[in-house]
Amino acid sequence: GLYQEAHRPQFHFTPHEKWMNDPNGLVFHQGVYHLFYQYYPEDIVWGPMHWGHAISKDMVHWENKPIALFPDEHGYIFSGSAVVDTNNSSGFGTKDNPPLVAIFTYHDPVGEKAKKDDFQTQGIAYSLDNGDTWVKYEGNPVIKNEGIRDFRDPKVFWNNKTGNWTMLLVAGDHLQIWQSPDLKEWVKVSEFGKNQGAHGGVWECPDLFPLKVEGTDMEKWVLLISINPGAPNGGSGTQYFVGDFDGTTFKSDQKEHKWIDWGTDNYAGVTYNNVPNNERVFIGWMSNWAYAQETPTEKWRSAMTLPRKLSLQQINDKFELFNYPLDSVDEIRGPVASEDITIGPKLDKSLTFDHFNKSEVKFKTSSRAFSLDFQNSSGEHLNLILDSEAQQFILDRSNSGKTTFDEDFAKNVQIMPIPDLPNGEYEVRVLMDWSSVEIFINHGQYVMTAQIFPNEFYRNLMISNPSDMELKLDTFTISPIKSIW
Ligand code: FRU
Repeated sequence: GLYQEAHRPQFHFTPHEKWMNDPNGLVFHQGVYHLFYQYYPEDIVWGPMHWGHAISKDMVHWENKPIALFPDEHGYIFSGSAVVDTNNSSGFGTKDNPPLVAIFTYHDPVGEKAKKDDFQTQGIAYSLDNGDTWVKYEGNPVIKNEGIRDFRDPKVFWNNKTGNWTMLLVAGDHLQIWQSPDLKEWVKVSEFGKNQGAHGGVWECPDLFPLKVEGTDMEKWVLLISINPGAPNGGSGTQYFVGDFDGTTFKSDQKEHKWIDWGTDNYAGVTYNNVPNNERVFIGWMSNWAYAQETPTEKWRSAMTLPRKLSLQQINDKFELFNYPLDSVDEIRGPVASEDITIGPKLDKSLTFDHFNKSEVKFKTSSRAFSLDFQNSSGEHLNLILDSEAQQFILDRSNSGKTTFDEDFAKNVQIMPIPDLPNGEYEVRVLMDWSSVEIFINHGQYVMTAQIFPNEFYRNLMISNPSDMELKLDTFTISPIKSIW
C-alpha cells in the first residue's frame, strides 16, 4: 500500500516519491502550517530544484500539495523562506487578502557551468490562494550577485525594531543582513561571522529570532547557521550563536559555536514565521550531504525531522538552545504502560516489543551510566550509551542494518559531549521510526538525530548497567506510535 515501502518513515514527513532536501518557506497562515521543500521530481538524487509543498494543521499529519515553484529562465529554485505580507507592502495582493510571498535563491546552471561566480541571485514569488498557486515577480531577481560564488538561502522576517523586512543571506564564509520596505528593493546593512563560529564548510540556511530565557524576562537572539562539511560527527550540521540584535547588526555573546543537534542527520533546519503565541518551531532535513544521495531507499529519498519547539535556558553562565518535539507528537502515541526498572550492578535486562521501529521509549533517571541496545533477529543492533564519567553520549550505528552504501556510515560511531547534564533526575526520550532515531536528553538539552536502515525491525531491547551501583529507570515507558499516513 501507500507509504509501505522498505524503510518508509511512518511518522515523519517524506515526499510521496523522489528526491527531497532542505525545508523551505516555513510559514503559518490561515490556520495552516506550510512546508515547502527542495524537490527534484524526476529522480531520487539531487537535480534541478523545485519547491515541493505540503500542509498541516498540527505539524504531524501532512497533506501533499502540487509543486509550488518550478525552475525558470533565471535558474533552479534553491532554498528560501516565505512571509505573510499583512500590510500588502509588496502590492501583490490587497489588505483584505494579503499575499504570501516566497523569497528564494535562483541558481543558474548555465552560469555555474561557465565557471562564473555570479550565478546565484535572489528572487520572489507570491500566492493569493494560501500557497496553492504562485506567480513569480516580473522584476526578478530582486538581489543580483556582485561576484560571490555561494550567495543564497534568504530567510526573511518582519523586523519590529526597524519596521521593515529583514533578510538573512549567506555569502560563503559569512552572514549578510539586508532590509527592505516592500520585499522588492533591498539594501545590505550589516555582516557577521567572518572570524566567528565553525568554518569547516560553506555557510548555508541562516535563521535569526528572539527567545525569552526561561524563567527570566531576558530576551536573547539566536542565530542558526548550517555548514557543510564541518559538523562534529562528520559532514553537514547546524551551529548556533546566542547574542543580541539591535534591528540591524547581530553580535554574538560567544566567539565559539555550538551545535543544535550532535547527530549526523539534522541539516538545513530553520524555523516557522508567524506561529501563534510566539512559539519557535523548527524542522530540519533528516540527512547529511556526506551520503544523502546513496541511502538505501528506492521510491523516495530522505525525510524531515519531527517538528521541534526551541527554547533557551541559562545553564552555568551559558545560554543553551533546547529543541524538543512539539506537544502534537504526543497525539500519535498509542496506549502506554510503564514500570519502574531496577537493574543490579553489571547486570542487564531484556525487553521485547513489537516493534521498536515505530515507537517511543521514555524514562527518567539520575543514573550516570547505562546502555540501550536495540536488536533484531538478524544480529543487527543500534547501541545508545550514556557515560557520564567520560561526559559523553554515544550512538553506535556501525552494525545497525544496511550501512555499506557509504564507507563512513559503515563505521559510524557518533559522540555527543554532555558536560552540563543535571545532577539529579533527567528525562531520556527516544523516538524511533523505520529509518531514523531521535534522542532527546533532559527535554532537548542534548539531542542526536540519525538515520538507520535495519533489514528487520528491532524487537528486543537490552538494557545494561555497566556500573557498580544499581541502575534505576523510573516510569520506563514503551509506546507504539501510530502511522500518520
Ligand atoms: C543546503 C543547500 C542550500 C541550497 C540547497 C540546494 O542543503 O545546499 O544551501 O540552497 O541545499 O538544494
